[in-house]
Amino acid sequence: MTASEPAAVPEAALDRDCTTLSRHVLQQAMKAFNAPSLLSPEAQDISAIMNRLALAGKLIARRLSRAGLMAGVLGFTGDTNVQGESVKKMDIYANDVFISVFKQSGLVCRLASEEMEKPYYIPENCPIGRYTLLYDPIDGSSNVDINLNVGSIFSIRQQEGNDLDGSARDLLQNGRKQIAAGYILYGPSTVFVYSLGDGVHMFILDPSLGEFILAAESMQIPAHGPVYSLNEGNFWQWDESLRDYTRYMHRHEGYTARYSGALVGDFHRILLQGGVFIYPGTAKNPDGKLRLLYETAPLAYLAEHANGCASTGTQPLLDFVPTELHQRTPLVIGSVEDVKLVESFIQDRGQRQKPASAVTQSSK
Ligand code: AHG
Ligand code: MN
Ligand code: MN
Repeated sequence: MTASEPAAVPEAALDRDCTTLSRHVLQQAMKAFNAPSLLSPEAQDISAIMNRLALAGKLIARRLSRAGLMAGVLGFTGDTNVQGESVKKMDIYANDVFISVFKQSGLVCRLASEEMEKPYYIPENCPIGRYTLLYDPIDGSSNVDINLNVGSIFSIRQQEGNDLDGSARDLLQNGRKQIAAGYILYGPSTVFVYSLGDGVHMFILDPSLGEFILAAESMQIPAHGPVYSLNEGNFWQWDESLRDYTRYMHRHEGYTARYSGALVGDFHRILLQGGVFIYPGTAKNPDGKLRLLYETAPLAYLAEHANGCASTGTQPLLDFVPTELHQRTPLVIGSVEDVKLVESFIQDRGQRQKPASAVTQSSK
């Protein structure tokens, strides 16, 4: 090799490090908005939004990685949020990160979060965009203080109408109105997963570059997987159908229980290996615990775009129309075969509950 010739760098390694989230999103956005050459305004906006989300993820990952060494980062704030849950200091920090990252971006008009009763409206002295960011800033908060995986979940919707009365009524539409969704998983590595409706794609943060590097494209949830993920501590609060399903899991070979306390982590396992995650309703809380607009709908969007599926147990999750911003829904999500098995127990129970006369009527 002479002094003038560049060292032969393996093309594949260099190209991989150059396949960053920002480059990938640009390509996806151009496809999604039919902008073959010049970027349409929508493609530019979505591309910029995803890059801002990546920055939020890096800021939160950095805080989490040093949380145990810093004063005032872990533990509870002493407040209760609109969900009636005790708030962790990391919930508030992460919530503020998304606001700070988007406030001056000119990309969004509102941010709606699990941690805020009403949406945060971009102030008049800041540039306003056409999109709404719905997010769960820290999902799996109970894991924060014990250094187990947590995540952030996001969903992007286009604003409809002008929302002058601040009711945000246009957000009360089903999950098929989402134009993008994804999550950031803060684990041994920081993972960014997103979809614009054309496949689900995964990136891993390379801290030495400060870039999310493509790790998997067009991911497919296997049609079946061994994992069933639900909190059996609630067993006696469930409907008999879910208890029957759980007994079936106990009695049949080939199933294994995994439950991390963070929906994002449990979903990520299922995205890669297959299986089913269930958070059912209970007698006390028939809608369950998880929130539609920034937890179950974004993940259902990903599941469907990865050849999986998601339901409330009785209807496709993405068809569910909320009546309020913090609407909760039961969730059954993952491999098609495994979701259908759960639904079969719920439907059978429904049949068994109907009086015999009604059932024979319908079979005529
Ligand atoms: P969040 O921390 O945003 O409130 O979400 C926690 C959710 C979800 O991540 C997890 O699967 C579920 O709550 C765990 O609930 P249980 O402790 O009732 O099982
Ligand atoms: Mn959550
Ligand atoms: Mn949360």
